[in-house]
Amino acid sequence: MRDASLTEEARLAFYPCMAHFILSFGDINKYLLREEPTTDRYQQRVNIHTYEDDRHWPWYLEDFAKLGFDRLCTPSAWMRFLWSEETRQNRILTYRLAALIDRASAIERIAIIEAIEETGNVLFGTMLDLATAIERRRGIELRYCGEFHFALESGHSAGSNRLEIAEISLDETTQAHSLLLVDEVFALFEAWTHELLSYATKKHARDLDDRYDRLAISDHDILISNLITRAIFN
Ligand SMILES: [Fe+2]
Repeated sequence: MRDASLTEEARLAFYPCMAHFILSFGDINKYLLREEPTTDRYQQRVNIHTYEDDRHWPWYLEDFAKLGFDRLCTPSAWMRFLWSEETRQNRILTYRLAALIDRASAIERIAIIEAIEETGNVLFGTMLDLATAIERRRGIELRYCGEFHFALESGHSAGSNRLEIAEISLDETTQAHSLLLVDEVFALFEAWTHELLSYATKKHARDLDDRYDRLAISDHDILISNLITRAIFN
């Protein structure tokens, strides 16, 4: 994403690869993080956050189409890709987060959300410049990749600010467990980013090969037409 020698589009080549997780993230908010009704004030904070974060995924699909990825492949090839080895970290991220959240207390869920939000902050902050350049050049709005979404991503749980979160007092056991949870969330996201990068790198190499093939074909066509022209006029 930070390689300025590539076009903005090439730097967003990882975008289709994260589909499984991004779409599942709406469900994680709706069906795992949220618990209603609740009298627990920390779970109430978690719930407020889920009502913000469960509604962002349609913008991902909107940009998916605008960036031209709808033309990638057939629906069956696409499903095979989403459940392939190439995208396993996307699915593992979803399933492991589900397991961690299911067993976590409301306070621990806040710790998990904070780790997810910090990761989101890096991703959306880096995507923003690329999206802005494409938006200007092509006269389109990219609601997921661009300013529209970034402005809603506060970098911490919606409905609370950093100070309020820092003021939550934890007993020793909860603190130790929260740290383990945060470490695992970051490790899962790290593996995920490696998978996205590997997809983007291979995709970029394939695109270069295709371009080379097309050039080779056109060079060949020029050669043949030159030979024919010479044959006619000699
Ligand atoms: Fe979001």
